[in-house]
Amino acid sequence: MSFDESPESLATQASERFQWHWEEIPIAGEMRKLAVASDPEGMLIDACERQDAGEEGVIDPFWATTWRAASGLDHYLGEVAVNGIRVLELGCGTGHAGLAAACRGSQVVLTDGVTDPLLLVKMSTWELRDRCQVQQLRFGIDRIQGPGFPLILGSDITYLRTLWPELEQCLRDHLAHDGQVLLSDPYRIIANEFRDWIQEREWSYREHKVELTDDPSHPIRVMQLTAR
Ligand SMILES: C[S@@+](CC[C@H](N)C(=O)[O-])C[C@H]1O[C@@H](n2cnc3c(N)ncnc32)[C@H](O)[C@@H]1O
Repeated sequence: MSFDESPESLATQASERFQWHWEEIPIAGEMRKLAVASDPEGMLIDACERQDAGEEGVIDPFWATTWRAASGLDHYLGEVAVNGIRVLELGCGTGHAGLAAACRGSQVVLTDGVTDPLLLVKMSTWELRDRCQVQQLRFGIDRIQGPGFPLILGSDITYLRTLWPELEQCLRDHLAHDGQVLLSDPYRIIANEFRDWIQEREWSYREHKVELTDDPSHPIRVMQLTAR
C-alpha cells in the first residue's frame, strides 16, 4: 500500500476537491457505508456555470448523484451467480453496483471516466480491497489488458446518445466470450432508444424489471446483453 492510497489520505484528497460524507444504505442486502458527494446539485450548477463562461473540458459531475438504477442492479445481482467471478463495472460513479458485486464475492474492477469519484470508491471498497480494483476507464479510449470479463455492469450509463458507440466498443473490448452485460436504468426514454440501437449491432437482448421498496411504482430496468 502506498501512503497516497491510505483511507486518511484519500479522505483528504477528496475533501480538497469537493464536500463528501459517509451514507449508510442497503448494499447486497445489508446496511453498509458508501462515500458520496454532499452537494451534487451544487456541483452540477457550478459545472454548468463554468461551461457557460466558456471554460473548455468541464465534465458534468453526474457521478455525484446516487442513482436508483444502481440499487436496482444491486437487487438483480442477488439472483445472479456472481461469487468468485471477475466483474468489470463501467461508469461506476460512487460504485454502488460494483461494491454490491464485491460483497457477493466477485473480484471487481470499478471504473469511471473521471477520477474524482474514484477517490470515494477507493474509500468505500477499502475493507474489500483484496477483491476490488479501482481505476479510470474512458469508454472507447482506455483498455484493460488481459482476459475478458464474464460479467460487465453499468448503472445509468446509457443516458447520452453520443456515448453509445464508445460504450459499445468498450463492451466488445472487455467482455469474455460467452460473457454477459447488465445495464440498469429507470426506464428512461433515451434508454428505450438504446435498447433498439444495441440490438441492431449483433447483441442479444433480454429485459428484467426490478421493483424497489422505496417506490414500487417506479421500477428499474435491467438490460441483459450477450454478444451474438
Ligand atoms: C448517471 S452517472 C451513473 C453513476 C453510477 N453508475 C450510478 O448509477 O450511481 C453516469 C456515469 O458514467 C460516467 N461516464 C460518463 N461518460 C463516460 C465515459 N465516456 N467513459 C467512462 N465513464 C463515463 C460518469 O462519470 C458517471 O459516473
